[in-house]
Amino acid sequence: MTTDFKATKAQFAIPDGIIYLDGNSLGPLPRAAAARVARTVEAEWGAMLITGWNKAGWMDQPARIGDRIGRLIGAAPGTVVMGDTLSIKVYQALASAIEMNPGRKVILSDTGNFPSDLYMADGLVRTLGHGYALKTVAPEEVLDAIDETVAVTLITEVDYRTGRRHDMAAITARAHEKGALTIWDLAHSAGALPVDLAGVGADFAVGCTYKYLNSGPGGPAFIYVAPKHADAARPALSGWLGHESPFAFDLDYRPGRGIERMRVGTPPVLQLAALEAAMDVWDGVNMDDLRARSLSLTDRFIAGVEAGCPDLRLATPRDHERRGSQVSFRHPDGYAIMQALIAQGVIGDFRAPDILRFGFTPLFIDEDEVDRAVDILSRIMATRGWDRPEFRTRAKVT
Ligand SMILES: Cc1ncc(COP(=O)(O)O)c(C=O)c1O
Repeated sequence: MTTDFKATKAQFAIPDGIIYLDGNSLGPLPRAAAARVARTVEAEWGAMLITGWNKAGWMDQPARIGDRIGRLIGAAPGTVVMGDTLSIKVYQALASAIEMNPGRKVILSDTGNFPSDLYMADGLVRTLGHGYALKTVAPEEVLDAIDETVAVTLITEVDYRTGRRHDMAAITARAHEKGALTIWDLAHSAGALPVDLAGVGADFAVGCTYKYLNSGPGGPAFIYVAPKHADAARPALSGWLGHESPFAFDLDYRPGRGIERMRVGTPPVLQLAALEAAMDVWDGVNMDDLRARSLSLTDRFIAGVEAGCPDLRLATPRDHERRGSQVSFRHPDGYAIMQALIAQGVIGDFRAPDILRFGFTPLFIDEDEVDRAVDILSRIMATRGWDRPEFRTRAKVT
């Protein structure tokens, strides 16, 4: 193993006494991010004012950072660009892809997908009318449901609730065999495991950065378009910064070259500054090392919880190939159990109706923390320490 995970851990500011198993939902603060954002605020925005767009390189930030994310997801330089939120990027990729497959009307997704992806697809087909439809099947039926009616598949590689992982290579190959395009949502993959977009021949991919990439709350999303489509795809959300020449202020829209056309409006410079600092942590991280460590940490957690907490039922596939970097257990009182855990400094989260979710980010989680989390959870379960009224009151964000 060439990656020094002690060194990556030292680059995060995690409060004392906290075992943070929620980096799959909101990554923790990279130590360098606060100073980087302060520098962007004071030395760039404050001192340079509007000249920062040129002098500080703000305008190139979305492509520059896109290239750094590209390394983690198997995307060549110049094929990934940052901007907007993931829901918006899902819509943009879908609208672009569907136009590239005229004559076909079906968007295929699965019932395990994140609801926002399905809502965005539903919104798009309603706008399009004319027989366009969103078809959802059970996750295990996706492969067989890809037929000659499907224009595009919209699949999230790793299930946000269970951590189940789709076979990206097999689904992409089947889609192409049947003449469909693919959009992969990498929200729970980018920074969680190695992804090989170019290798599998994916057409489009989208993902967020506030989870395993640690850009902070509200950090912008990314979009990937395969080089073979990049100069043909119509960006659908045709904002001025995706124009071939934004500062010509032409009245007609002409898409920019390649991935640049997927930009929409003004980039979130401060959030991107935080993300740029967060990406420094990835320098020197080997993705195969990350995966090996993620699997060993998740195996250790599963074994410990199954030994210590017989009432919790594993919701995540045991098979390494079939899971991401999170572990989920089911229990009817999952919400209260999670609140009891959080009260003792072990932070995970809850997804309705009964899922306790634990994210394992090797960049900052180690074996000792896994063992301590197992001990605390086992004690809470053995003593019914969760069975208190204050742990049952649902907060707005679960
Ligand atoms: C798989 C997946 N898709 C889409 C989204 C929505 O992302 P955003 O809120 O950035 O639009 C999320 C958010 O967690 C997600 O997990």
